[in-house]
Amino acid sequence: ARLVVLVSGSGTNLQALLDAAADPAYGAEVVAVGADRDGIEGLARAERAGIPTFVHRVKDYATREAWDAALSAACAEHEPDLVVLAGFMKLTGATFLASYGGRTVNTHPALSPSFPGMHGPADALAYGVKVTGATLFVVDAGVDTGPIVDQVTVRVEDDDDVETLHERIKVAERAMLVDCVGRMAREGFTISDRKVRFGGAPA
Ligand code: GRF
Repeated sequence: ARLVVLVSGSGTNLQALLDAAADPAYGAEVVAVGADRDGIEGLARAERAGIPTFVHRVKDYATREAWDAALSAACAEHEPDLVVLAGFMKLTGATFLASYGGRTVNTHPALSPSFPGMHGPADALAYGVKVTGATLFVVDAGVDTGPIVDQVTVRVEDDDDVETLHERIKVAERAMLVDCVGRMAREGFTISDRKVRFGGAPA
């Protein structure tokens, strides 16, 4: 399966997919990496791997919708079977979802529906939960609200701060991402009544 991965930061989730895809048995390859900003490690990781990249910054467009259309067109050039939002910090809009809704997954570093949005690990820490984790879901029009593919739990330690907690979450998150994206690519998946099941038509 052809993967387009969208990033906004360090790209450790992307790197995990690149490493997994090196094995032909994985069943998916990263064909392009897109970002909403320049100069991030995620893009450098793609360049080092010889993978095409594209950048579309919201501020370069007159409207959010124009940005969303440009992002969609950039993805379409690479004919993805699956789009993976791996630390991508922008909400995709109606144009994007019209083309890629139902075959775009996103990782969130919290146990949905708890702590949606930009600060999942910080919100979990502030709330005082003993267990948090990460969620892989199929993107819908909401903020971290789509049908859940899988979740992984991570215990919060007494001496955690946001950084130590998020780093521990990211270890579990990228393992879950690699496992699930591989299965979605090799086995396909179906979604009904918010339940995502592997199997059916391979991506
Ligand atoms: C990940 O935990 C992602 O879920 C969150 O930000 C982090 C991005 O990490 N949105 P990276 O860019 O993949 O290293």
